[in-house]
Amino acid sequence: AVLAVPITSVEPPAPAPEAPTSPLTIVYGTQTGNSRHLAERLKRQAEGAGLPVRLLRASEYPVRELAREKFLAVVISTQGDGDPPDDSRAFYEFLLAKRAPRLEGLRFTVLGLGDSSYPKFCEVGRVLDARLVELGATRLTERADCDLDFEPIAAGWLDQTLARTREAVEPRAPAVATVVPLRGAPSLPTVGKEAPFSAAVLVNQRITGRGALKDVRHVELSLEGSGLEYLPGDSLGVWAPNASELVEAVLTQQRLDGAETVTRDGKTLPLSRWLTDELELTRLSRPFLERHASLAESSALQTLLSPSGVESFRALLKSHQVIDMLRQHPARWGAKELVLALRKQTPRLYSIASSPKRVGAEAHLTVSVVDYTAFGERHLGNASYHLATRGTEEDTVRVFVESNDRFRLPEDSSRDVVMIGPGTGVAPFRAFVQERAEVGARGRNWLFFGEQHFRSQFLYQTEWQEALKKKTLHRLSVAFSRDTAEKVYVQHRLREQGKELFAWLEGGASLYVCGDAQRMAPDVHEALVDVVAQHGDRSREAAEDWLKSLRDERRYLRDVY
Ligand code: 2AM
Repeated sequence: AVLAVPITSVEPPAPAPEAPTSPLTIVYGTQTGNSRHLAERLKRQAEGAGLPVRLLRASEYPVRELAREKFLAVVISTQGDGDPPDDSRAFYEFLLAKRAPRLEGLRFTVLGLGDSSYPKFCEVGRVLDARLVELGATRLTERADCDLDFEPIAAGWLDQTLARTREAVEPRAPAVATVVPLRGAPSLPTVGKEAPFSAAVLVNQRITGRGALKDVRHVELSLEGSGLEYLPGDSLGVWAPNASELVEAVLTQQRLDGAETVTRDGKTLPLSRWLTDELELTRLSRPFLERHASLAESSALQTLLSPSGVESFRALLKSHQVIDMLRQHPARWGAKELVLALRKQTPRLYSIASSPKRVGAEAHLTVSVVDYTAFGERHLGNASYHLATRGTEEDTVRVFVESNDRFRLPEDSSRDVVMIGPGTGVAPFRAFVQERAEVGARGRNWLFFGEQHFRSQFLYQTEWQEALKKKTLHRLSVAFSRDTAEKVYVQHRLREQGKELFAWLEGGASLYVCGDAQRMAPDVHEALVDVVAQHGDRSREAAEDWLKSLRDERRYLRDVY
């Protein structure tokens, strides 16, 4: 036998499979990059043929999804004495393990790369191919083994794989005897929230200075080959695992074994995987708190959850994470009940900070990194920390586009725009200014920006200065709140420049506000009311109405959170 591992599966019959996320998933494992290039080639060819594809490095592939895959192409090399590449170890071991899931619904094919001067030529590809069949999967096309000069064999395999996948996926394609037709001709899911794209990280650069309290990153992601499109104003959704530090903290605090398996919603995973990939640790939820309050027998928590505790409850949600609750109100959780009580992870949305007209198949983000210590615990953000810790060599981030039609530039580009975006609220306005420059908009652009310190936190300072010089930005008003004894915020600048501002608005300008919803947006609104009242010679009430009509005309738009 090829395999030295038992092949009987101890899994119960698989539950009804959920919808496939993408017709074809390509997984590659590479040491020198050849497998990756070939996998990317297959992806390009498939997409050229109108077949949505998900391409993942083996180390990034969520193995739990294997049981739901319909079509899988694996491109993998063999190292030295028959070993998988470093990035594929976990994937390989998962498949070879006794507990590997049954894969009856899967159709797959393997391309092996190797060096025939070694005795175990293409061993990894061969073992995987045999193992997948043992697990119940069927071959879409025969495995191919490539030597150092991989091109001729690889090219044939690519063509075969593409042809067979298309036959199997496309309902109208002539039926082929060996192909099991798909039931119900499912529409092809494209890249989206449930089938995110693994975007390569091109740039991850801190743009706040050393002295700054905040770590803000400018992140550039590649959308090449994803088919994803966006408009200025749209957001990028980011799916991120929780930091291992947070997972470890919870496991250690509760003295739980991360390897203990737990089943929820028909899915069986080790506890550590639940905490890393599936459940929220950085945001609290009411069901978790209710369960925790009763486990901890804490009357303080009970009060917080009662109607009289609404305000404190809201404050708690903002400042505390799961680990804080475990520490502050001791209780003993079992692995299973913890998994059942925690909320499912959700993606985080970031306003896109670039215009595709300027940057092509890329999306830029402005990310404020959550990483601070409070109550004796390190608090790490979910997506922000994930993004901040991605290198730019091999790392990818799982993303999708969330369109935001309520935050669009005026259709008539000869209109002026006023943009108010303190902090990372400036992100969509970088996209706006780029877009308006690229389309040669005749309208003027006025940006209000605020941060704590001029020296260390003037986000994108040189870009704004450049834009001013090129006359793609016409006015820039800044407020640095901690450089002076008295705090100055963007709304102070709005009031100071009220006369001009009102003239722009009366002249038909669109007004945009992005950033903090709790304090900034209401304070800015108050300032706008003052400006309109004073310079429009109206009562405050009439000024409110005037702004309301602006809103109705979709010329006063807010993207606040
Ligand atoms: P602060 O941190 O010094 O209070 C971006 O976060 C900028 O928004 C910072 O300069 C911050 O100032 C400022 N800010 C805080 N509260 C604000 C508010 N209510 N209105 C406008 N800006 C505010």
